[in-house]
Amino acid sequence: MGQLDSKVAIVTGAGQGIGKAVAEALAAEGATVVVSDINADAAQAVSSALGGGSSFAADASSEEDVQALVQHAVDTHGRLDIAVANAGIAHMAPLVGQSLADFRKVTSINLDGVFLVTRYAGPVIAGGGGGTIVNIASITSQAAAPLIGSYAASKAAVVSLTQTAAIELRDAGVRVNAICPGFIDTQLVVDRKADFEALGLPMPFDDLIAAKQGRYGTPEEVGKLAVFLAGPRSSFSSGSAYVLDGGARASVL
Ligand SMILES: NC(=O)c1ccc[n+]([C@@H]2O[C@H](COP(=O)([O-])OP(=O)(O)OC[C@H]3O[C@@H](n4cnc5c(N)ncnc54)[C@H](O)[C@@H]3O)[C@@H](O)[C@H]2O)c1
Repeated sequence: MGQLDSKVAIVTGAGQGIGKAVAEALAAEGATVVVSDINADAAQAVSSALGGGSSFAADASSEEDVQALVQHAVDTHGRLDIAVANAGIAHMAPLVGQSLADFRKVTSINLDGVFLVTRYAGPVIAGGGGGTIVNIASITSQAAAPLIGSYAASKAAVVSLTQTAAIELRDAGVRVNAICPGFIDTQLVVDRKADFEALGLPMPFDDLIAAKQGRYGTPEEVGKLAVFLAGPRSSFSSGSAYVLDGGARASVL
């Protein structure tokens, strides 16, 4: 018997990386998962491998798309219990010199996307008798790095939004938490190593991660925490931001 038997979940940005691993982890615990991504083919491929659920192409920054995603879950699977707002992007640029359009592109997906999941999935989950929302924030919500100012600001706002949602939805029995991963081994990080190294780091980027975190985290490790927060074992957890970074945040050296 799985921890999430009979639960229906949506996961945004689940075509690869952390979202894919979260979808797989939820499904492994018995949840019926709607795998959503802006990349329809990627979502379909993940969903086919999982079996049992469905896929739905949606841009997490689009109000129309997120509304349709929630409706799809209810129409196709009869209910919605778990929503994981995972879709996110990073744009590498110093704050000074960055265009407002580039700044807004990041916040429109990373922050608006979380707001829209709360806005549209929240009432449906509450109507079903309680459930959970898990927002994928980042360690950058708590500590900065050069070049990722728009990203870090969006993630700090996700933690704040998580707190407000937790309070507002508590009486409806909906718990809302955030996960703040450190550096996880996904394409998002791989694609940005060269930009960080161009800053003139004291050592290669991979060595810096090893020094700070011990190693890269894996998407599967984020998936395990998502299962915990989505399921009954975290029954008294709400409004919290869970750091998952191999101890990086705990260290001053
Ligand atoms: N990888 C890390 O080190 C790390 C650390 C902390 C937080 N995060 C967060 O985890 C989440 C997933 O990151 P990842 O590392 O798996 O990234 P990734 O780039 O590997 O995957 C992101 C997925 O989101 C999808 N996506 C992009 N824009 C979208 C949109 N507008 N609507 C719907 N889907 C969209 C992509 O198609 C892709 O499948 C993001 O919110 C990211 O900020 C990642």
